[in-house]
Amino acid sequence: MASLSLRALCILPFLFCHVAAIYMPLREHAGSTFFDRWAYYGNVDNTTWGNVTYQDQANATSKGLTFVNGAGHAIVKVDNTTTLLPGPLVNRDSIRLTSLDSYGIGSLIIIDAVHIPYGCSVWPSFWTYGIQEEWPLAGEIDIIEAINGMNNNQVALHTTPGCYQAQNPGQTGVTLEGDCSTDRGCIVSETKPNSYGPGFAAAGGGVYAVQIAASGIYSWFWSRPDIPDNVKLSTSTSTIDTAVWGLPSSSYPATACNITKYFPPQNLVLLTTLCGVWAGVPDIYRATCQTPTNSCVNDNIIGPGSTFDTAYWEIRYIRAYLADDAPPISSSSSAAPSSTTSDVPTTTTSTTTTDPITRPSSSAPIRFSHLTLSCFVLLSFMTVTLLP
Ligand SMILES: *[C@@H]1O[C@H](CO)[C@@H](O)[C@H](O)[C@H]1NC(C)=O
Ligand SMILES: *[C@@H]1O[C@H](CO)[C@@H](O)[C@H](O)[C@H]1NC(C)=O
Ligand SMILES: *[C@@H]1O[C@H](CO)[C@@H](O)[C@H](O)[C@H]1NC(C)=O
Ligand SMILES: *[C@@H]1O[C@H](CO)[C@@H](O)[C@H](O)[C@H]1NC(C)=O
Ligand SMILES: *[C@@H]1O[C@H](CO)[C@@H](O)[C@H](O)[C@H]1NC(C)=O
Repeated sequence: MASLSLRALCILPFLFCHVAAIYMPLREHAGSTFFDRWAYYGNVDNTTWGNVTYQDQANATSKGLTFVNGAGHAIVKVDNTTTLLPGPLVNRDSIRLTSLDSYGIGSLIIIDAVHIPYGCSVWPSFWTYGIQEEWPLAGEIDIIEAINGMNNNQVALHTTPGCYQAQNPGQTGVTLEGDCSTDRGCIVSETKPNSYGPGFAAAGGGVYAVQIAASGIYSWFWSRPDIPDNVKLSTSTSTIDTAVWGLPSSSYPATACNITKYFPPQNLVLLTTLCGVWAGVPDIYRATCQTPTNSCVNDNIIGPGSTFDTAYWEIRYIRAYLADDAPPISSSSSAAPSSTTSDVPTTTTSTTTTDPITRPSSSAPIRFSHLTLSCFVLLSFMTVTLLP
């Protein structure tokens, strides 16, 4: 019992430390400017081998695969208007976007989505990786990822060997894999309802957030009715205090993974692939999709486009924040993947350091941050002291 209490003593203050931070707004992708700072991949899926051809920006626009709808939400969709015939290589048009900006330690990323692509063969993901080095040398964080008929999200980290999820990390999700260097990464399955699929859409969507801190990587999900007030009521200029968010869905404390070492600045990626090395694996496909020939490609990609009527992202915003005490952003933070360099207008090659970071003139949030932190640490010690 004594050793248990001692362990709690060490862990509890640490757990609470990570959530008590004030974040300053850095950048927003929303409305008519949503598509401004992304590179369109414009190539086949040569990373997860889905049966898609990711369109360049000109095609995406002319084919109506990326646009802003009447509600001011960004739509990023799979082609659902073309009937594809069988052939030697059948690929459907889709989109892969990579942010021109990258985000290091001290970043908080929030995405508010009304709809996430779903359906048999569909494999959407919103994730990050360090584009400066060959994958996975600079890490990968899968914030939203699911396939086929799954009804819950999965978060995962991918790294080179040496990064693990700590035991009892303090999270509401369920760990499926603890070694981040395995092929599937260190996975945490979301347990809150309506995190993916028809349930997510029926609830009006929801919000995902990921905090990349030296102390760990933490993620949250809230279905639309459960979004905390400080997120729900926020605007593009609001600061965000993560202290009130409660336990994360997934938690990767730095005690078992040196975040600074494994996660240099990350670029955001938003895509939808079809079939490929996860959704299209026969046994995995059959687990949640029963279709006439049990073939991911034949029963979905070939044939009418209407199979993909639910294969679209509808996004209210993606916002990036910087912790008030975060180190300055690296000046090498703006880059596009080599395959898409030609898509990047030369006028948008400026780095994030040239973008002014909006900071409130008052230092009150900083003091509040430290006060909040102290309170939580104190509370944690009290809790431990009161344990029998
Ligand atoms: C753009 O669309 C045309 C017509 O479908 C196609 O031939 C071309 O390969 C597309 N470009 C890319 C980058 O997919
Ligand atoms: C689907 O895509 C994979 C990967 O590019 C390819 O090997 C396979 O032949 C494609 N399937 C069809 C029916 O085109
Ligand atoms: C984590 O990695 C960084 C960069 O490699 C290194 O400077 C630091 O000492 C490491 N921290 C720990 C606790 O090993
Ligand atoms: C395609 O999907 C969109 C939703 O993204 C839907 O509004 C539309 O009716 C679908 N069908 C066609 C033929 O465009
Ligand atoms: C995918 O193809 C593009 C364009 O050919 C290339 O630049 C890139 O390195 C390829 N990626 C992988 C992982 O093979």
